[in-house]
Amino acid sequence: MSGEHPATGTRPRVRDAAGGASAVAHPNIALIKYWGKRDERLLLPWTDSLSMTLDIFPTTTRVRLAASAGRDEVLLDGVPARGEARRRVVAFLDLVRERAGLSRRAVVDSVNTVPTGAGLASSASGFAALAVAAAAAYGLGLDATGLSRLARRGSGSASRSVFGGFAAWYAGPSAGPDREADLASFAEPVPAGGLDPALVIAVVDAGPKAVSSREAMRRTVATSPLYRPWADSSGDDLAQMRAALLRGDLEAVGEIAERNALGMHATMLAARPAVRYLSPATLSVLDGVLQLRRDGVAAYATMDAGPNVKVLCRRADAHRVADAVRAAAAQGAVHIARPGPGARLLGEGEDGR
Ligand code: PMV
Repeated sequence: MSGEHPATGTRPRVRDAAGGASAVAHPNIALIKYWGKRDERLLLPWTDSLSMTLDIFPTTTRVRLAASAGRDEVLLDGVPARGEARRRVVAFLDLVRERAGLSRRAVVDSVNTVPTGAGLASSASGFAALAVAAAAAYGLGLDATGLSRLARRGSGSASRSVFGGFAAWYAGPSAGPDREADLASFAEPVPAGGLDPALVIAVVDAGPKAVSSREAMRRTVATSPLYRPWADSSGDDLAQMRAALLRGDLEAVGEIAERNALGMHATMLAARPAVRYLSPATLSVLDGVLQLRRDGVAAYATMDAGPNVKVLCRRADAHRVADAVRAAAAQGAVHIARPGPGARLLGEGEDGR
């Protein structure tokens, strides 16, 4: 590939003057959801998923190799990370070190631009930026597929944030050796013809979730009688979604995304005990979305592991949709996002925002 870097379209910039590398990545929202891991160590999902990377709320991460031994230093928004957040970053760095054959510790400095309490997960942008920066700092020389595979090990959905626009993440074969499954599970860009979409994000509750997505996925897979049927139908949803994206059919994209998300929430509601992320405010926004459709506006909802609603619509309708959603939610912030870029390394002095 003559040194071209597929994720960035530029030559790979390796380390900065101080031996560090910085990268920026944006969050993504799944239109066909990932829900359920078949391998927790390798972070392999049961189903393929497909998402849109956003153009708002980037995470910028710098990784520098430390001069001394000791421990990794991890700063999240300027504050030393602790507990589970720190453990996940260190485990990820251990994986990078193992691949690089290096033992040097790192200094990680990660800054998120998601407004505090926006209720949007930053794990996808966070681990995509960390994967790109850490791979460069430790000299792994990965292409975009390799970076996506690596980001997956930090957080499944991060595999998709390596790419801009729409991206599909493959589950890989569920039988056979671990190594083959690991190699086959990565994301890839998905072509979309002539769509000019927006995603209106209604933050109805910014608080922390009662059940982590990890625990909720486990419980759903282990106990929900609806999990298997949803997972099976998700494959058809994905095939239809690809075709709808290719022909630029926003109505079909929205319908498929909405039914896939509602189906995912149905699997959780049927888990034992039930996992319910949808709140009364979520349902009000869903009513608002139905009313928009009755009024002739193409608007379709999707929800993740929380009560917030993301409404897919045409870019030209985004402000009308935002007003309707604001009225329905009665409180909370509303953000408008459009398709955004993939993860990339930053040059010196660039801050990625
Ligand atoms: O990658 P995680 O562990 O943050 O899980 C993400 C799960 C959903 O957001 C609910 C769906 C998805 O595909 O992003």
